[in-house]
This record gives sequence, structure tokens and C-alpha cells, in this order.
Amino acid sequence: PQVCWLSPEQTAGKQKPFMYTQGQAVLNRSFFPCFDTPSVKCTYSATVEVPEGFTAVMSATSWEKTNDNTFVFKMSQPIPSYLIALAVGDIVSAEVGPRSRVWAEPCLIEAAKKEYDGVIEEFLVVGEKLFGPYVWGRYDILFMPPSFPFGGMENPCLTFVTPCLLAGDRSLVDVIIHEISHSWFGNLVTNATWGEFWLNEGFTMYAQRRISTEVYGLPYTCLEAATGRALLRQHMDNTGEDHPLNKLRVIIEPGFSLFLGVNPDDTYNETPYEKGYCFVSYLAHLVGDQSKFDAFLQAYVNRFKFQSITADDTLGFFLEYFPELKEKGVDSIPGFEFERWLNTPGWPPYLPDLSPGQQLMKPADALAELWAADSLNMDAIEAVDITAWRVYQLIYFLDQVLEKSPLPEGNVERLSKMYPKISKAQNAELRLRWCQIILKNNVEAEYSKVKDFLHSQGKQKYTLPLYRAMWGGSESARALAMETFSATAPQLHVNVQNYVKKILGLEVAE
Ligand code: BES
Ligand code: ZN
Repeated sequence: PQVCWLSPEQTAGKQKPFMYTQGQAVLNRSFFPCFDTPSVKCTYSATVEVPEGFTAVMSATSWEKTNDNTFVFKMSQPIPSYLIALAVGDIVSAEVGPRSRVWAEPCLIEAAKKEYDGVIEEFLVVGEKLFGPYVWGRYDILFMPPSFPFGGMENPCLTFVTPCLLAGDRSLVDVIIHEISHSWFGNLVTNATWGEFWLNEGFTMYAQRRISTEVYGLPYTCLEAATGRALLRQHMDNTGEDHPLNKLRVIIEPGFSLFLGVNPDDTYNETPYEKGYCFVSYLAHLVGDQSKFDAFLQAYVNRFKFQSITADDTLGFFLEYFPELKEKGVDSIPGFEFERWLNTPGWPPYLPDLSPGQQLMKPADALAELWAADSLNMDAIEAVDITAWRVYQLIYFLDQVLEKSPLPEGNVERLSKMYPKISKAQNAELRLRWCQIILKNNVEAEYSKVKDFLHSQGKQKYTLPLYRAMWGGSESARALAMETFSATAPQLHVNVQNYVKKILGLEVAE
């Protein structure tokens, strides 16, 4: 079942079916026989025969079309099983850089090319400067059908992404930078077990923000990191800080079904990403000098490339690389012990300084404050011109509004009228937050926006928070959840379906 077969209606063009695989975390065992653990790496080759009029693509370093309907792929670098990926559909490609092209259904290819033409190479070049050679040859991007459950999946040579990234203004390009960063952290140096998923994602978040800082500057990157911190806050509030999954090192236990024991897929939450990012930032803080820490990261990749490692390997190498820190006993500073970082659930003991982003955050903080007031100061509100704000400033603003919600009666309705740029946004990150605000303030008049958004795409990080909000809301919100789920369930990835069922208290089939 983890090989996804989509009907023509589930694609953008609605003409031809589409199939794709999603390996991470432990789904590829239902695709081909394998040692389905990230601790084992191997090369692979594949011969794929498709029906007339279809194209196959894979996470491979080389490929050729041998006769009309047969594709031969070869991955010449050793990779873990979860990175083997295949997609077949009515797809075409367009060049966007010297080693990059975008793949998409014909009706999306123009938009895809426009979104990323000429921007990918710079990220690769900066990544290589920071972390060492890019070993995978090409870096291509495949735009998936709307039900793809992730923002992006770092399949080597060919990242799979949600079509939600086609915002028209490159505003969601941080997802691409993230997936590119996995070229070093995750795909080259890999977590040996899913219990230490943060080694992949925490280091990747750090690498992503290093590249972003070089390309877009520190203020913007800190603003983006602040929205990440808000997600971590929401996640910990939702689950409780002490939840066992809010540790960087998670115990994966076998169970009898998807929801007994801990399934590696369940570790996909904000903790490995954002708490992991804080831990890597803490290591950088201990070093105290960015260029020294950058050099460490490059040495780390070089030391462990093509291997699978544990956090002990990482931290051992860190202390070996910086003997003066080892000498000082930085691994056991009370309150910040490495062991505590790994094994204690809860809020990170150290947060990187995001104040360079203040110039972008302050106006958004102030505006959110104004909208939370009992009697609205419309003069002050109208004096703020948000038309020139970047998407991430709007996202940050909406996170603040959400945190202050429910707002006093009527405020959200007025906010909605005042800013069509937000309430009628097409950008998926803005739509998610607007829908969350609608639900937290129970604005029934705008329920249709929640429904439309959930019908339009199936990304897990958009879908689950909205079902959680609906289920935790009013009777009518719960009804909206049930109605929306019964209409959209067949389109959702089976994992996402099961997580929604769990939220709604429905039975999960094995
Ligand atoms: N590797 C992950 C996606 C993933 C995680 C798939 C766990 C299956 C199990 C990917 O690199 C990722 O983190 N994507 C994020 C991007 C974001 C952090 C910029 C996403 O999909 O939201
Ligand atoms: Zn990732």
C-alpha cells in the first residue's frame, strides 16, 4: 500500500494516472525486498517498463530510455533503502540550472520553471562552499500531485516536492534549501537508526539556515527560524513538553500494529527538527566562531560520508575536533549536558539568538498586539502598511495572532476584511495559518476556506493541525472535520489517513 497509485482525478492535469513511492521512514519494504534500515547502504539499479505515454524517474545518478517504454536507472553511490524512490506519470522536464531541471505534469511545467529558474545553482554552490563537494551529480526537482504528504523529500538527485511550493514568488524556497542540505546531512552522513532522526533533520535545519544566511542574510533567516520556533512551541503545547517523543533520542519499540509501540514514522514532528536545530546551534555557540564551526561541519561530513552513524559518533567527533572544549568538559555543563539534550524531553535548554530578525519581527509583533485589543485602534492599524511585507513576515504575524486567539469578538472578521492578501491568500503557508485562526476563533462564516484547503492538498503538516483544531473545537467544527475527511480520505496518503483517523477517534485498519 505504500506504493501510491493515483487516479487521473488525483493529478493536476486530470488526464492520466500517476504512481509514486515514498520510502522514508520504513515504507520501502513494501516496494522491494531490502534491509529496510538506515544503517545499511548500497548502490542500486532498476529497469522500469511503463505504458505508452508515461515517463519514469528515480533517485538515480544516471538513467537512459532504452526503447520507447523502458527506463534503466543506476545509483552509483551507496544509499540507505529509504532513499530509493520511483515516480511514473505524464511528466516533462525543463532546465533551471547547469545541473538542475524541474519535472512536472505538462500543465504545471511553465509555473515550475518560472518558480526556480536560475536560483537552484546558487544554493548548491553555497552548500558546496560550506559543507564540501556535492557528490550526487544532478539536483533535479519533481513536482508531485497535490496529495503528496510532505513539503519535500530529499530523494538523492531528485527531490520530490509538494506542488504547494508553486507560490509564484519563490517565497517557499526554504523547502528546496532544506532538501538540498540533506545532500550532506542525511544522504551522505545518515542516522543509523530512526531513534536518532534528529541527526538527519536537526543538522539539515542548521545547514539550511547557514545557506539561507549566506544567500538572504541573517535578518531574514532569523525570521524564518522564529516561525520554526513557533511550530516547536505549538507542538510541545499540543503533546505536552514531557512527551517521550520530545526527546532527541527516541526509543523505537516494536508493536503489534501501527499504534502500539513506537513506529519510526511517528517521530516525524517538530522536535527532531527544531530542538535538533537548537542543539546544533548550541554546539556552534560552544565553539563561538562561525567559521570554525563551519569548518567542523565540513570535516564531519568528510569523516562520516557514505556511513550511518549515531549521536555518540557525532558528539565524540565534535569533542575530538575541539580538544580544548573536551578539556573544559563542555559535554557536562550542568543543565546543558549532552546526555540531557539527548535523553530529556521538553523545551530546549538553549535557544539561538534570533534578535537579528527583530527589524522584521517587531512590526509584525506590534500589529498582532493591536489586533488582539478589546477595542481596536483602527488609526494605528491603518497606519501599518503590510502590502510590502514578505510572506514570512505575514506568516510570523499570523503565528502571533494565532497565539493570542481567540481574539475579542468580531476582530478576526474585521482582520479578514482588512487584509484580503491574507484571508484570500493562495500561498499554502498563509492558508494553513488563516485556517488555524478561523478554527481557533470559530469563525463559521469562513469554514469553507478550511474545507477548500483540505480538498486542495494532502500535506501531513497542513492536514493534521487542522483536524486537531477542528476536533478540539465546537460541534460544528467537529462536523466539518467528519464531512471533510469522508470526502477527502481516498486522496490522502495512507499514513496521513491513519493519523487523521486517530485524531477523529476512528478505527485504524492494520
Ligand atoms: N525527510 C523529510 C520528510 C520526511 C520525514 C518524510 C520523515 C518521511 C518521514 C524532509 O526532508 C523534510 O523534512 N521536509 C519538510 C521540509 C521543511 C522542514 C522545510 C516538510 O516536508 O515539511
Ligand atoms: Zn528534512
